[in-house]
Amino acid sequence: MRLDTLAGPPALRASSVRLDVHLTAEDLARALRADARTGLGTRPRELPPKWLYDERGCRLFEEITRLPEYYPTRREREILLAHAPEIAQRTRAATLVELGSGTSEKTRLLLSALRELGTLERFVPFDVSETTLRTAAAAIAQEYPGVHVHAVVGDFERHLAHLPRGSARLVAFLGGTVGNLKPEARARFLRRLALQLGPRDALLLGTDLVKDIPRLEAAYNDRQGVTAEFNRNVLRVLNRELGATFDLERFEHVARYDARQGWIEMLLRSTVAQRVQLPGLPLQVDFSAGELLRTEVSAKFQVEQVEGELAMAGFTRAGFWTDRWGDFGLTLAVPTA
Ligand code: SAH
Ligand code: AVI
Repeated sequence: MRLDTLAGPPALRASSVRLDVHLTAEDLARALRADARTGLGTRPRELPPKWLYDERGCRLFEEITRLPEYYPTRREREILLAHAPEIAQRTRAATLVELGSGTSEKTRLLLSALRELGTLERFVPFDVSETTLRTAAAAIAQEYPGVHVHAVVGDFERHLAHLPRGSARLVAFLGGTVGNLKPEARARFLRRLALQLGPRDALLLGTDLVKDIPRLEAAYNDRQGVTAEFNRNVLRVLNRELGATFDLERFEHVARYDARQGWIEMLLRSTVAQRVQLPGLPLQVDFSAGELLRTEVSAKFQVEQVEGELAMAGFTRAGFWTDRWGDFGLTLAVPTA
């Protein structure tokens, strides 16, 4: 682990910011090589979605959150606007942890509610993307003087045991990112998280809810093509990090709802038969014309399903809120006694 303080102007250095790095550049390079070898070397071809989020990918995701078709961020913000004070009151959290924190944009509603209540001492943003995390941590330290910001660079599927200890922790996992884990991985993740939490801790989980298919599919097929750019970004990552020879013009964006699985899947379709070299592995991959490479799944939940999955993992539901359209859900859960 690398321990760091954030560099920056004196005003930022004066704030209390700490950064723990559990994923160094070498760890990331090793993990990407392993995932690319497994995911591209066998059929059907698939890569884990975390590789979408280099600096450019994080910026593209931020753009997605502002698109007219992409409702989840707006809906979750509405829920937080209406209910953050109640969530603060119920949890009285001293530490707010945020998994997959990105820019922590909506999280400020929780931070402000907890500060207002007078219980907030520490904020722990946790993300795989170090650059985005550093920027967000520095900005929050400045906006919330007196709050200790302890940022953690890590993979929430591997490094939950490194979450800073303490009591009265509220772990927020927002945006519906839990839906980017497939059912087995999701169950494992939730079980591990439940084991990390004590009796005074709680989980606040954002989930996108099942709705009519045209709206679901429109959210991942925006007219401006930002989601397509975000999707293809994973090929840029492979080209840069592994010296791969992906021609982005020869892969088209596909996003479709699979009703049987209850998820949107995002794919890249090879428009021609082509051979791609990955000298960093080394590996060469032959794509047939029309062949698909899956880059993400995004599960859409029934309300009872969320409660059921949480119960299986060792959580008891303590609260549930949705927006006025019933598009998105926010569940408060505590470890089952
Ligand atoms: N929570 C924010 C951002 C969601 S985007 C919101 O609600 O808008 C998903 C975020 O999760 C990105 O910042 C990405 O870098 C991070 N992420 C994806 N997979 C991860 C993993 N395995 N471990 C840690 N962070 C991850
Ligand atoms: C971060 N995650 C919840 C987003 C989602 O909707 O599954 C990522 C995303 N993929 C395409 N658009 C947005």
